[in-house]
Amino acid sequence: MKQTEVLVIGSGLAGLAFALKSAENFKVLIVSKSELDQTNTSMAQGGIAAVISEVDSFDQHIQDTLKAGAGLCRPEVVQRMVESGPERIQDLISWGVQFDAYGNTLGPDLNKEGGHSKRRILHVQDQTGRAIHQALLKTAMAHPNIEILENTIALDLVTNHETKPESAGPRTCQGAYIYNSKTKEVSTLFANFTMLATGGAGKVYLYTSNWGGATGDGMAMAYRAGARIANLEFTQFHPTCLYHPLARNFLISEAVRGEGGHLLNSKGERFVLKHDERGELAPRDIVARAIDAEMKRTGDECVYLDISHQDRDMIISKFPKIYEKCLEFGYDMTKQAVPVVPAAHYQCGGILVDQYGRTDIEGLFAVGETACTGLHGANRLASNSLLECLVTAHESAQYLATKADEPSKIEIKNIPKWREVESTDEDEKMLIGHLWDEVRRLMWNYVGIVRSNERLTRAQIRLKYIRQEVEYHFRSFHLDKDFVELRNLALVADLTVQAARMRHESRGTHYNLDYPQQKTDSESARETFLSSRTEIERLYYDTFHMNF
Ligand code: FAD
Ligand code: SIN
Repeated sequence: MKQTEVLVIGSGLAGLAFALKSAENFKVLIVSKSELDQTNTSMAQGGIAAVISEVDSFDQHIQDTLKAGAGLCRPEVVQRMVESGPERIQDLISWGVQFDAYGNTLGPDLNKEGGHSKRRILHVQDQTGRAIHQALLKTAMAHPNIEILENTIALDLVTNHETKPESAGPRTCQGAYIYNSKTKEVSTLFANFTMLATGGAGKVYLYTSNWGGATGDGMAMAYRAGARIANLEFTQFHPTCLYHPLARNFLISEAVRGEGGHLLNSKGERFVLKHDERGELAPRDIVARAIDAEMKRTGDECVYLDISHQDRDMIISKFPKIYEKCLEFGYDMTKQAVPVVPAAHYQCGGILVDQYGRTDIEGLFAVGETACTGLHGANRLASNSLLECLVTAHESAQYLATKADEPSKIEIKNIPKWREVESTDEDEKMLIGHLWDEVRRLMWNYVGIVRSNERLTRAQIRLKYIRQEVEYHFRSFHLDKDFVELRNLALVADLTVQAARMRHESRGTHYNLDYPQQKTDSESARETFLSSRTEIERLYYDTFHMNF
């Protein structure tokens, strides 16, 4: 058993930025499930969107975000995020991030990406996320009020609901059950405030740009604890990942199209203009669907991204990592087109939060990709994610500062210990591997870029059984990182399908052949919410989770 004032689950940009700001008032403990550099943040390429240029304006960034979000962004949230951008960029600079400058000037070099009407993406070559993550990690590690534990996995949240009936008052979060994947021990970690900064869920799909641990753990934990999950049907597919059996979906940044890259089919024809007059720089839901349609039309396994007509020095200096990686796989992008395919990239939905990152559960907050603030609506504008991590982290920490003098509400009595399992079933590993693969494959085939009612129904039927199987074995198998992740992955996959089935239209990243149009009525232009507090779900939850 361990206790802290603020527990942060996740060490990506969202978790680190929040920790750095909260450490001005609290003792902060960060737990991270793998090595500290294993995050989606570290992989971010293009950069971070903010209104910096004199020829840009807040209004234009707001309009671009709303347009990409296809009628589902919360306008007040968009305005706040966009207008806070320049100040939050200053935070990054104060933590040591050095953005690329334009020529010999002191001003930043701004990139352009799909859906943006202006150049407004600050970047550090094509490894912006890595530069940001390294700077923040270094600052956090040196901070006297911050402790960081790696290889430490949050299994589930501790709530007062486990000791009291619902009628006893609002649900409160009191910390989390934590599993050390090296010592294999589980402990209970109590905290006055718990922040979920666990990132996205790209691994729900067979092909993804995300890191291996993007299994939606925060969304699954919050759902099991009774918080609402919003808009999970809006999975964003990035149009251009390198197509090579060994490349593991390496991303080719949208900034390459921003610098004039064209998408070609195997005959060398440009095809995106047939779908949208903005061509390769249309928002990525449109470009990803155009590629999917072209691959289906031609029967080809990929399309090609060609920037070889642009200046060689510009390509190598702006995209050194992408250039090097393509070369490793035999493609010189200064001389030839590179094969690319779309892959699952970003979860626009997540744990429903307000301006301060507050969830439905008292004491439980969420920030970053795991949260749904209302910024992205039905489709995130490129490079708005890093911005959202920073703005919500800042506002959440400011809110917590007003609570610094309040007495702790933790009630350590009667919290059940995590169940221990002595024996290991020898089929365990095989079953886990099989189910991981099955979930990811069926999500790719049935719940991908183009969906239909029949495909969604098939996915839902199968996922119901997979979830039951996983929960059943979860009580009797030895704890193991893969198994913990599978449990979360299967739940998030199932919730994604449930949300997709609730939406009887196509909007943003969600496209259903049976409802190909975006509807205009106010009922359809609503967010979808899922909660474990419905009767059937509670029964399921009580049966499989609460009685160990
Ligand atoms: P992450 O950075 O993914 O961090 C999640 C953290 O949570 C990790 O430390 C992980 O270990 C931890 N964690 C997860 N589950 C648990 C658990 N159960 N217990 C303990 N710890 C846990 N966005 C942009 O705005 N601009 C870009 O240029 C850009 N490029 C991208 C390129 C790629 C290849 C990818 C994959 C994404 C890109 N994105 C970009 C999206 C953006 O990087 C992410 O949305 C953002 O970094 C998410 O930050 P985060 O802190 O929420 O999550
Ligand atoms: C990219 O560089 O293409 C990724 C940008 C993003 O996901 O916002």
